[in-house]
Amino acid sequence: MFFGNVSAIMKHLFKTNKTSNKKKLKSTFEEPHLALSVAGYVSYVFLFVVGKVREFIWGQGPLNHGGANKANADPEGYAPLYASFESFYTRNVYRRLKDVFNRPIRSVPGAKVRLAQRKSHDNFWTWKMTPAEEEEQELNCINLASYNYLGYAESSGPRTEAAIKAVAERGLAPCSPRLETGTLSAHKRLESDLSAFLGVDDAMVVGMGFATNALSLPALVRKGCLVLSDEKNHASLILGLRLSGATVMVFKHNNVDNLEKILRKAVIQGHPRTRRPWKKILIVVEGVYSMEGTIVKLPEILAIKNKYGAYLYLDEAHSIGAMGPNGRGVVDHFGLNPKDIDIMMGTFTKSFGASGGYIAGSKPLIDFLRRQSHASAYPASMSAPVVAQIDAALRSLSDPEGQSRVKRLARNASYFRRRLQQMGCIVYGDDASPVVPVMLYMPAKISAAVNGLWSRGVAGIAVGFPATNMAEERIRFCISASHTEAMLDEALEAIDAVATEYNFKHSRRFEYADTKIVY
Ligand SMILES: Cc1ncc(COP(=O)(O)O)c(C=O)c1O
Repeated sequence: MFFGNVSAIMKHLFKTNKTSNKKKLKSTFEEPHLALSVAGYVSYVFLFVVGKVREFIWGQGPLNHGGANKANADPEGYAPLYASFESFYTRNVYRRLKDVFNRPIRSVPGAKVRLAQRKSHDNFWTWKMTPAEEEEQELNCINLASYNYLGYAESSGPRTEAAIKAVAERGLAPCSPRLETGTLSAHKRLESDLSAFLGVDDAMVVGMGFATNALSLPALVRKGCLVLSDEKNHASLILGLRLSGATVMVFKHNNVDNLEKILRKAVIQGHPRTRRPWKKILIVVEGVYSMEGTIVKLPEILAIKNKYGAYLYLDEAHSIGAMGPNGRGVVDHFGLNPKDIDIMMGTFTKSFGASGGYIAGSKPLIDFLRRQSHASAYPASMSAPVVAQIDAALRSLSDPEGQSRVKRLARNASYFRRRLQQMGCIVYGDDASPVVPVMLYMPAKISAAVNGLWSRGVAGIAVGFPATNMAEERIRFCISASHTEAMLDEALEAIDAVATEYNFKHSRRFEYADTKIVY
């Protein structure tokens, strides 16, 4: 990863004729000024040097910092069972920025969210929560940090009532897996509603989105199969592919030329050791990438998949409900036929304000996965109130009020993104994406920017290495249909002030410079 970035800097230094592919990427990814990339790396070098000196003089941090890690001391004669601050990076870089991560909240993650307050007396090694009644003042922020795209994460209203009713009728836990007595009639109804909504034959729902990927992929591919995986794919997909034993080749993010090049070579050459054809080839992509805000180039990838006879696995965690004129995801966004996608996966933790995931597709595929996927066969089934919340959200989505949420989300996302671009920030991703990352390029700015926003009543999420490349730190804003125009304007005003104060208006494109952006 580090060398990947060094090579990006080298490309700045020795500019050659760019390929057409590079040009295409430029439309969504503005490259920072060279000085900025260099400064980003210099700040890492500085943190590493300071860390080395500190540890040389005082030894490794935890035991010397207020006994933060003493409770973990292993019994004599035992090898360490675990280490909470195992890596140099975690101790010396991540810890310094820790105040902006893992912030507990005290309310539903709606359009506004109440942040819990906490204090650290040992330079962020440990935290002490301030009890709610002792908080001097409530910290209520405009919530640009949760994946509540359609505003269905609520504590009242028809979906909450449906969930409460389900608890009253069926309790909280099914206490059994789907294959035993864990299948409720409500599961069957949800699966039928979901497949109708997605426009496919069948669907299976699973209690956890992460496990849907991590435990279903091994049922689909194994040793002797080839998987082509986008370099920005989510950890659940990466884990599933590792567990599967299949050979994984990674292609450049959303780069169809690179995908085709690797695929063509793989088809021609077969397995590198035996030279025999691969048992099957699977392409794994996401609908909207949650760190980049990019939308998958689905029509081109579909064409490639058909040309080379590969299968396509599409993870719509961040796009289902949030993309397309009807909220049916990226397939809807591009006006494609859902039956052309071999395996459609998604989660209910974002647009549906619930938990769990699904896989949808042809009936034989879903019947197979119901038995063979460890995500479906072994864990206790999805809880009844969760099923009720999802089903109610799904039904709401089909009525005019739900459809107006889909439209409001698209309008909010586009307005917010354009205003940030106009402000002079480098904003990654595509116009229609509800994920809006603003680039900072320096680890120290993560803490300054997020704290600056909190103090102005705006909650955003900081993302840095290893979730992104080094020196590609960013704040990620997630837009919701429940945000009003006034809320977005208030948040933009705060971001403008923080971006000026901490200097992250890095764009050189001057987009919308002389245009009034109307909501
Ligand atoms: C693309 C993608 N797939 C799967 C998941 C896992 O879903 P969940 O958080 O619902 O377990 C996530 C989580 O954010 C994700 O971004």
